[in-house]
Amino acid sequence: MDEQPTIELVGIRLRPLRGEDAVAWHAYLSDPQVTELTSYPPMSHADVESMLACVTQAYSAGTSCKWAVALQDDDQMVGTCGFNEWSQAHGWAELAYELARPYWGRSIISEAVAACLAWGFDTALLNRVHAFVMVGNVRSERVLERAHFTREGCLRSYRMCRGQPRDFSVFSILRCEWEAAGREGAEDIDNRSVRRHR
Ligand SMILES: CC(C)(COP(=O)(O)OP(=O)(O)OC[C@H]1O[C@@H](n2cnc3c(N)ncnc32)[C@H](O)[C@@H]1OP(=O)(O)O)[C@@H](O)C(=O)NCCC(=O)NCCS
Repeated sequence: MDEQPTIELVGIRLRPLRGEDAVAWHAYLSDPQVTELTSYPPMSHADVESMLACVTQAYSAGTSCKWAVALQDDDQMVGTCGFNEWSQAHGWAELAYELARPYWGRSIISEAVAACLAWGFDTALLNRVHAFVMVGNVRSERVLERAHFTREGCLRSYRMCRGQPRDFSVFSILRCEWEAAGREGAEDIDNRSVRRHR
C-alpha cells in the first residue's frame, strides 16, 4: 500500500494514527457518553494501544483505513473517522467515526465523512460505503443522512454491546449516488465549516 495520506480540511486534518494518540483515544473512550450508543467494550490503555497497532497494520494490509481526526492548530487527536473494514475484492467499505465530547455539535464529523467518501470513491475506487448505527443513535443517523446515505433496514441483535444484544440500522451510499449528490453536498460542508470557524 502507498503511505496513508493526510487530508487537510477546514480547522481539522485527517492524518494517520500514531502511537502517542493512544492517550487521547483512551481518554475519550473512557467517557460513557461517547461509547453508550456504540459497540466499543470497556478498554484499558493497553487495549487501546493494541487497537491502534491493529489499525496501522490493517492499513498496510489493505483491509481498513482509519484516520485520526486532529485539530489543525496543535495536531491534537479529537476523534477517528474512516473505514473499519475494506473489501478491495468487492469494492465496499464500512464507515465508522467518533469524536471526543467537547467537539460534538460543530459538524466536524460531517466534514471528515465527506473527505473519507471522496477518498473512498475517487482513490480507493469503492462502489459502496455502508455504516452500522445502533438504533437510537440519532446524532449518527443525522450525520449519514446529511451525507446522502440511504437507510437500508434493521439488523436485529446484530452486535453484543457491553453484554447486551443490540439492533443496528444499516445505511449505505453507492458511487452513483455520491456522484449525483456532487456539488450540493460539497456546498453544505463548506457552509458549515464557515459557520463553525466564525
Ligand atoms: C456521532 C457523532 C460523531 C456525531 O458528531 P456530532 O458532532 O455530535 O454531530 P453534529 O453535531 O455534526 O450533528 C449531529 C446531528 O444530530 C442532531 N442532534 C444533536 N443532539 C441531538 C439529540 N439530543 N437528539 C437528536 N438529535 C440531535 C444535531 O442537530 C445534528 O443534526 P442536524 O445536522 O440536522 O442539525 C458524535 O456524536 C459521537 O462521537 N458520538 C459518540 C460515538 C458514536 O456514536 N459514533 C458513531 C457510531 S455509529
